[in-house]
Amino acid sequence: MARQGLCQGHEQVLQKRTALMVFILCAIIAMLVASPAVLAAGDPSAGEQLFTGAARFENGGAACITCHNVEGVGSLGGGMVGKDLTKAYSRFGEQGLSSILKQPAFPIMKDIFDSRPITPQEQQDLLAFFKEVDQRSESQATAGTFFVIGLVGMVVLLVLFNIFFARRNRGVRRQLVGGAIR
Ligand code: HEC
Repeated sequence: MARQGLCQGHEQVLQKRTALMVFILCAIIAMLVASPAVLAAGDPSAGEQLFTGAARFENGGAACITCHNVEGVGSLGGGMVGKDLTKAYSRFGEQGLSSILKQPAFPIMKDIFDSRPITPQEQQDLLAFFKEVDQRSESQATAGTFFVIGLVGMVVLLVLFNIFFARRNRGVRRQLVGGAIR
């Protein structure tokens, strides 16, 4: 009887360790899901400067903001000649947007950028910028939600673990006490 109690105690320590590892894993996954912008390639802030004209294109192309708007960029908003590009990344996808940046096929843009191509580095930076902007406009609504879900999830898990281990502890104690009495 006493030996069985010991074994159970050992098993319990193992289970606690596994539970802790699962818990940490869940927390890491939740953090990764909640921060997709961290994974963007290129330099989004360099891309933003190219978009607004704060930085000049190496080959002298016109700043995109002359003709395009992106939500929350530039105090006066962008031009209305071209479409709003806030959602360009999800609309065209990484591939589609890359090829537009490499060789714009739209007449007005073609006139400007055919003779003043955007360099590969600038393309990368713009792509990263559009990706960030796209996700920012989405995550503004969801970042708070993710945080709350994460917090509630953690509390629920902690409460569940507590209940589970409290039960197990009581069981072991009862067995040990029972053995001593007998
Ligand atoms: C001189 C004006 C002008 C400039 C500067 C300009 N564009 Fe455009 N762009 C246009 C026009 C016009 C179109 C075609 C109509 C449209 O789709 O809005 C277009 C279309 C686009 C589209 C496709 C939009 C869609 O939803 O169909 C993308 C993406 C784009 N431009 C990105 C850029 C980027 C990035 C820059 C800066 C490197 C830039 N443009 C600079 C005028 C411009």
